[in-house]
Amino acid sequence: MMDEKFALVTGCGFGGIGHALSVRLREEIGEDIQVISTLLPHESAEHLLSKGVHVVRTDVTKDASVQELKSFLEELTGGRLDILINNAGICYTMPATDTKVAEVEKMFSVNVFGPMRVVHFLHPMLIKAKGVVVNIGSIGGVCPFVYGASYNASKAALHHWGNTLRVEMRPLGVRVVNVISGEVSTNILKNDHGRSLPQESVFAPMQEDFLAHLHRTPNAITPDQYAAGVVREILKKSPAVWFWFGASSGTIRMIDALLPRSSWDWLFGRYFNLSKLTETPAKVGSSDSSMK
Ligand SMILES: NC(=O)c1ccc[n+]([C@@H]2O[C@H](COP(=O)([O-])OP(=O)(O)OC[C@H]3O[C@@H](n4cnc5c(N)ncnc54)[C@H](OP(=O)(O)O)[C@@H]3O)[C@@H](O)[C@H]2O)c1
Repeated sequence: MMDEKFALVTGCGFGGIGHALSVRLREEIGEDIQVISTLLPHESAEHLLSKGVHVVRTDVTKDASVQELKSFLEELTGGRLDILINNAGICYTMPATDTKVAEVEKMFSVNVFGPMRVVHFLHPMLIKAKGVVVNIGSIGGVCPFVYGASYNASKAALHHWGNTLRVEMRPLGVRVVNVISGEVSTNILKNDHGRSLPQESVFAPMQEDFLAHLHRTPNAITPDQYAAGVVREILKKSPAVWFWFGASSGTIRMIDALLPRSSWDWLFGRYFNLSKLTETPAKVGSSDSSMK
């Protein structure tokens, strides 16, 4: 079929953004699109298979796994890919001073090196189709959301890598969209639920606040609402190169554009109750010697 389109979405576990985007693409375009969604080996697939979505087991941190994905796609699509959504991602919530580098390395492997790897292997297919690459970024990559220093850094890296990718791919007919996502009600914080502040942390007085933050119910939009907005945008002939969408994204965008950087210190200092650090300071000087 001449008009048939092919879309790939990474990281499509049940209830997440990738799941919603995969289903929405099918609903919006119908039989003229084949959606291929990736899952890790342990994840169930019924939520995608029941919607007519193809499932491939792919770990974006591994070359061999993405090469297998490429072979699958070449077979199915004849070597063209109209839409690539780099969605797979994980979080790591911890004050900057308590950062365990091994955790950050793991996160960057998924959030930053994953999209780099997928684009590296699949770009010929995107060029053939004059397709679009969509990177699922975050408002955290723009504003200093407290306890998210390294997650924020991973998303800022993704945004900036995507910026340059966009300029380089334009002459080849491929568009690149950074989605600057506000909060969406998914299960992404599951990896954080077992965490707590180290006893020796200078943030120890914030322990209760920190735990409440990890177990919060975000004031967020649903994955379906999010997917509807993102799919509508990326199917445009000329989508926004930075598409701000999701809870609080409009406010963050305005503050970032109009107010001095230092305004975040005041805003987030109050929002996260950081005056406790001054009022009841922790004992300083016994930080963990291990970074791993
Ligand atoms: N939810 C939000 O408020 C929000 C806001 C801004 C941006 N985002 C971004 O949106 C994206 C989707 O997040 P989400 O909220 O939908 O969370 P999610 O439900 O946890 O979805 C992330 C998916 O990526 C998968 N994944 C993890 N490591 C992977 C790997 N090595 N290779 C391939 N897939 C892997 C996860 O599998 P497991 O479940 O097995 O780990 C999961 O299926 C992420 O990039 C996230 O940073 C989310």
